[in-house]
Amino acid sequence: MTEFITQLPKAELHLHLEGSLEPELMLKLAQRNKLFLPYDDIAAIKAAYEFGNLQDFLDIYYQGANVLQTEQDFFDLTWAYLLRCKEQGVVHTEPCFDPQTHTDRGIPFPVVVNGISAALKQGQTQLGISSYLILSFLRHLPEEAAFKTLEMALPYRDQFIAVGLDSSEMGHPPEKFERVFAKARAEGFKAVAHAGEEGPAAYVWSALDLLSVDRIDHGVRAFEDAKLIQRLIDEQVPLTVCPLSNTRLKVFADMADHTILKMLDQGVMVTVNSDDPAYFGGYVAENYQAIYESLAMTPAQLQQLAINSIKASFLPQDVKNSIILQVESVGI
Ligand code: ADE
Ligand code: ZN
Repeated sequence: MTEFITQLPKAELHLHLEGSLEPELMLKLAQRNKLFLPYDDIAAIKAAYEFGNLQDFLDIYYQGANVLQTEQDFFDLTWAYLLRCKEQGVVHTEPCFDPQTHTDRGIPFPVVVNGISAALKQGQTQLGISSYLILSFLRHLPEEAAFKTLEMALPYRDQFIAVGLDSSEMGHPPEKFERVFAKARAEGFKAVAHAGEEGPAAYVWSALDLLSVDRIDHGVRAFEDAKLIQRLIDEQVPLTVCPLSNTRLKVFADMADHTILKMLDQGVMVTVNSDDPAYFGGYVAENYQAIYESLAMTPAQLQQLAINSIKASFLPQDVKNSIILQVESVGI
């Protein structure tokens, strides 16, 4: 099955570049930038990756991001991720990054965005992988900080396609960012938001109604609200589901409890993504493999998930059509 999954042309729509920082690269960048890391070796880093919930993870993830200092560091991070995409049959990716994680510790915005963009450009020319970048606001910080970030980013508007919303969900509902999302949309950006990961289904409603998002990141707790599920089906709102993330962060106790297959069967536009692969034990193909094994999925269902990933992307319709034909031509 691994080979079939790899052969399916796929898009990845929910990937935090900072979450693709592998322990090996973290150590290398710490040495290169002469920074202290509270770990002696790779085994010690990996041993720290035991999370009881989202916040446990975020604390470690923000600490790891401190090793990213120069434009070259952001290039190397992004390039390493694109090489994984190539190995796994990801033909298009829409990764996000958190500028505030870097600007708040004194790294200039252009250092971050130019390093990422240069790697994404090289991904297109050398690996044939297309990409659109998403700029995410940290929801645990004030609305005003998100506004400042958007202002800072506007001169670089050609380098990203959408704004997003991530970090600690509980207590930071989408409505806190209604005005900044309205401004971003007025500037012509698309919008996505994490909602219904740890937070309630109500956050999915408000991301749709108040932020006018094009996709919901995670959204798995929508399953608790039948009316919401019906709306997601009727409007074909894409959910960027991240199975390994959900089990590692205890959103589901076990992969066998995951609701992605039930939602797919009901007609929800679910997609499979890796979220923070360096922290959760796998890139996109490992996420397909995990649900295939634990939920007794059929190859046709895996193929449908790959088709959904293309449909839910921000690619132009003609490009989507041609990739979907390629997905359909992979023999089951
Ligand atoms: N930032 C990185 N990964 C995240 C996740 N799964 N949820 C919220 N914020 C994040
Ligand atoms: Zn995420």
